[in-house]
Amino acid sequence: MLEDLLALQQRLLAAIAEAGSDDDLEQVRLSCLGRKGELTQILRSLGTLAPEQRKQAGEQANRTRETLQRALDERVLTLKQAALADRVVREQLDVTLPGRHRAAGAVHPITRAIAEIGTFFQGMGFIAATGPEVESDWYNFEALNLPPNHPAREMQDTFYLPETAAGERLLLRTHTSPVQIHVMEQQTPPLRVIAPGRVFRCDSDLTHTPMFHQVEGFMVDETVHFGHLKGLLAAFLRHFFARELPVRFRPSFFPFTEPSAEVDMGCLFCQGKGCRVCKGSGWLEVLGCGMIHPAVLGHVGIDRERYSGFAFGMGVERLAMLKYGIGDLRTFFDNDVRFLQRYGAAVMGDGR
Ligand code: PHE
Repeated sequence: MLEDLLALQQRLLAAIAEAGSDDDLEQVRLSCLGRKGELTQILRSLGTLAPEQRKQAGEQANRTRETLQRALDERVLTLKQAALADRVVREQLDVTLPGRHRAAGAVHPITRAIAEIGTFFQGMGFIAATGPEVESDWYNFEALNLPPNHPAREMQDTFYLPETAAGERLLLRTHTSPVQIHVMEQQTPPLRVIAPGRVFRCDSDLTHTPMFHQVEGFMVDETVHFGHLKGLLAAFLRHFFARELPVRFRPSFFPFTEPSAEVDMGCLFCQGKGCRVCKGSGWLEVLGCGMIHPAVLGHVGIDRERYSGFAFGMGVERLAMLKYGIGDLRTFFDNDVRFLQRYGAAVMGDGR
């Protein structure tokens, strides 16, 4: 019996030393100390021995159990430490490696310019409005005093949609001026409105894209006159370009305004001396404007004896190119991320 116990102890100690995982160890433990384990069996059979042998065998069995238990505990610890040492090696961090680059987003210069324009006019009490990009002939042309076959319609090459079942030919708005009509139909003066949006013209070359952006603005009240328009637009241009600029109003024509004017500002790049950007003239043309034509007020049921108004429309791409120094119009819409990295704003807002 004693020899059996010692042989068992030897064998199990070897098995414990060989166990490579917690599972292996548990196997060994069960095979000796478990309910049906070899040592358990021996302990159980002690009762069948003669008293003298029983004492000796019992003492040895207890020693064997303690030895094995200690060996198991030690092995658990050893395995744990080995696993930890292994992890430390495997999960080693090289803190001298360069960090991973995370591309930062940026606000597109068009969005930024619209926000900057909006900030100025909102400060002047103008409220933002929008209108649909798909328009009827009425809103885009007729209500704006451009009757069918009016030669001025050819100023703007229009994208038409397929004729509807009702025989109507909808179109992509060629300017933001139809927003004037929508607002004046729904609201009564006094009105001060600013309306940014996309517009579409069938035109594509170095300086034209078939889609571009405008900001429309208008004001209708009892005593609005051309002086208000002049003062407002001059103040806007000086604010937007953040400098004292000469501004001039040149007589022009739009069917929906009378009188109409084209607004020029002194060239930013040559201070009026004449350069490539201003084509030698010293002036940059930046806006169209005028006093709202009485026929337009009449179309939306505003009392043209009592009220007058002014309106203006500006091209956002043009203003953004001048302000941020962007050379090629088409780069706005190429979606090349390098363009945003260079001209995008880190944060939205006035950006100055
Ligand atoms: N709608 C005109 C254009 O697209 C601009 C404009 C707006 C002119 C308002 C006068 C008044 O060219």
